[in-house]
Amino acid sequence: MNPFSLENKVAVITGGSRGIGKAIAKLLAESGAHVILTSRKIESLKEVADEINGAGNKATPIACHAGSLDQIEALYKEIEEKFGRLDILVNNAATNPHFGNLLDAEDSMWDKTVEVNLKGPFFMIKKAVALMKKNGGGAIVNVSSINGIKPGLFQGVYSVTKAGLINMTQSFAKELAADNIRVNALLPGLTETKFAKAITDNEDIQKEIFKQIPMGRAAQPEEMAGAVLYLVSDAASFTTGTCLVCDGGYLVS
Ligand SMILES: NC(=O)c1ccc[n+]([C@@H]2O[C@H](COP(=O)([O-])OP(=O)(O)OC[C@H]3O[C@@H](n4cnc5c(N)ncnc54)[C@H](OP(=O)(O)O)[C@@H]3O)[C@@H](O)[C@H]2O)c1
Repeated sequence: MNPFSLENKVAVITGGSRGIGKAIAKLLAESGAHVILTSRKIESLKEVADEINGAGNKATPIACHAGSLDQIEALYKEIEEKFGRLDILVNNAATNPHFGNLLDAEDSMWDKTVEVNLKGPFFMIKKAVALMKKNGGGAIVNVSSINGIKPGLFQGVYSVTKAGLINMTQSFAKELAADNIRVNALLPGLTETKFAKAITDNEDIQKEIFKQIPMGRAAQPEEMAGAVLYLVSDAASFTTGTCLVCDGGYLVS
């Protein structure tokens, strides 16, 4: 038996239309899972689903705003009707609307960031667990960030939510172990995606940041996907409540 095989598993990946979420979705699908891709825009989800299905694997696109409890409710209703089960949840979608000093953060910025990065993932887990329990277990990965350990400059609000997501991961790991549901976190470092454009498009900022990364570069989204495959597969059957850091050595430098 290949411990990394996800044959007959159903997986939800939020923020699956591009960047890290898309790379995770492609690898999980290549490993045998039927991946359900969510994000706000159905058109870009359909493109990724077509790419995955075209390669002979299985993907279904469903639009869902990660911070909308009504849309999360509707998503799980559709999953239950179409699939009747859920084995894997990857809480990957996130937002970072406030780039600046923490003291300058407005009320609306807090609300939006907490809604999408913390409250949404919580309700995603709550609904996922109800389905996973029916099937005897499952695996959840929350995509946090190295900023959840070491706050990023001008990213204070975002960093607080990513720290909260790590703590939520650990609480759920303890609560759900008896239900055979493992809950872990991925902590990516700088990765070349739209999300990181403010850094990767600015040569001067990028140069300064690269100096702090022993590997001297940003990651490609695909370099995050293998870590998630490990965490959701049977290869990690005794691993729960952990933070898997993929940062080119940034946190130890
Ligand atoms: N890139 C990095 O350097 C880095 C470093 C550490 C951690 N991370 C984490 O990695 C995860 C993925 O980031 P990424 O870099 O891959 O970003 P990205 O390329 O910008 O992709 C973000 C994905 O999330 C979706 N999304 C955004 N807001 C959403 C919402 N409110 N509801 C539902 N979907 C939403 C986007 O689609 P729509 O816009 O169509 O909704 C898209 O599919 C995030 O949790 C981020 O915090 C990234």
